[in-house]
Amino acid sequence: MSQNIITIDGPSGAGKSTITRLVASRLGLRYLDTGAMYRAATLHCMRAGIKLDDPKAVAGTIKSLNLDIELVKDGPVKVRIGGQDVTDKIRTPEVTRNIHYVADIMEVRDWLVAMQRKIGQQGDLVTEGRDQGTLVFPHADLKVYLYATHEVRARRRFEELRQRGLETTFDEVLKDVTQRDHLDMSREHGGLRKALDAVELDTSTLTPDQVAESIVKLAKSRLAMRTRKIDKDKLGLDQHKA
Ligand code: C5P
Repeated sequence: MSQNIITIDGPSGAGKSTITRLVASRLGLRYLDTGAMYRAATLHCMRAGIKLDDPKAVAGTIKSLNLDIELVKDGPVKVRIGGQDVTDKIRTPEVTRNIHYVADIMEVRDWLVAMQRKIGQQGDLVTEGRDQGTLVFPHADLKVYLYATHEVRARRRFEELRQRGLETTFDEVLKDVTQRDHLDMSREHGGLRKALDAVELDTSTLTPDQVAESIVKLAKSRLAMRTRKIDKDKLGLDQHKA
């Protein structure tokens, strides 16, 4: 496995996307948003007109998904299905509501995890999602778990939806956030969990910039430690410990 991989997991609204992008840009790494992949898989199934609560139909439909993920420097990933740009279309509330049907299916997860690992093979990557540190990149150089209170996360999501011109109420968004947490955490495979060796950061009272700076500092010290270890290994010092 190549090196320089940082994973950032956490519930929706913890600030993952903005923070991951800032970290990638400051460290000169590539940025991968794995949520966008599950969103694209969901849109594909919705367009196929199948019953989303039929796991066999979802698993069958996913075989025809021609997904192209383009990692853009300093920007959101570009997502194409069959050559068509769906970067904005995967962000509608309908897609968000339906994701759990698709993300629960093992065949879908296996397929997307393989794609994520392939992207990771080149190293130099900051990747965000729910299972990046626990399952997809268990040997990442640095694992971060971001969280914030329900209220703070719902408030952020509410503002974001309002800015995009979508009408909703705070209570509705709070209900959605709570329900999505439940679905993401209770998923048997690839569910949202903190990796044992992840660094936990509460983003409730911090700006994205402050959180990104903490992660950049952690990443730099990890990489420096690893370089020292490689030097020691080369000299054979590790075999002669007291
Ligand atoms: O990160 P985002 O909110 O766009 O993710 C949308 C949904 O995709 C999540 O709520 C989760 O159900 C699913 N997902 C997942 N595994 C990932 C990333 C996202 O199951 N690694």
